[in-house]
Amino acid sequence: MDFGTIGAGTVAQAIAGHLVTAGHEVTLSNSRGPDTLLDVVTRLGPLASAGTAGEAAAADMVFLTVMWPQVGDALVGLPEWDGRILVDTTNTFADLEAGTASEFVAERAPGARVVKAFNTLHARYIAADPRHAEGRQLLFYAGDDIAAKTTFHELADALGFAPVDAGTLREGGRLMQIGGPLSALHALRQD
Ligand SMILES: NC(=O)c1ccc[n+]([C@@H]2O[C@H](COP(=O)([O-])OP(=O)(O)OC[C@H]3O[C@@H](n4cnc5c(N)ncnc54)[C@H](OP(=O)(O)O)[C@@H]3O)[C@@H](O)[C@H]2O)c1
Repeated sequence: MDFGTIGAGTVAQAIAGHLVTAGHEVTLSNSRGPDTLLDVVTRLGPLASAGTAGEAAAADMVFLTVMWPQVGDALVGLPEWDGRILVDTTNTFADLEAGTASEFVAERAPGARVVKAFNTLHARYIAADPRHAEGRQLLFYAGDDIAAKTTFHELADALGFAPVDAGTLREGGRLMQIGGPLSALHALRQD
């Protein structure tokens, strides 16, 4: 399984760090082109590469890691999703009239199997080794596709997190979004 990121900032680099440590290849992308990411991928090591957004979005699992105002633009012009998994890490203060941020994302990525994750944690807890002496870092996720959630759960578990299924994009997404009870909940599971 290979991985891509749309956006290559704080959250993308934190996730990519875990992926390469676990031996996975990851392609990072931004709006300015691969040449601007050479320092970033050099720091991450040989399993990381810089690509166009289209190349990153062609991976089996793609992390959407742009700021909310850029979500629309970032999802334009990508290859057909064709069932690949799109992990939405975004947060927004926007008042979405209906639904959740990830449902908004899913509407703009037809054919993608969207999983919401990582948005409840501050980047320093995403980047850190999730295996603490007291237990593993809880990682909430939500989604409507059971198989995609299982794949994400297995990955998160392998990366050292303690994944917790929060429900559907609508219900789980509400719990996980800013202001929801799981937002900013930094907690450990007893092992
Ligand atoms: N930071 C946190 O603690 C944290 C925690 C959880 C969730 N989040 C959420 O995660 C998302 C990313 O946050 P961040 O802190 O990683 O932001 P960030 O450091 O500002 O990174 C955003 C990245 O998106 C890229 N980008 C902008 N427009 C793009 C486009 N059209 N196509 C592709 N890439 C584009 C930017 O690069 P260029 O401008 O060079 O294109 C940059 O690499 C946000 O929605 C945030 O709310 C953040």
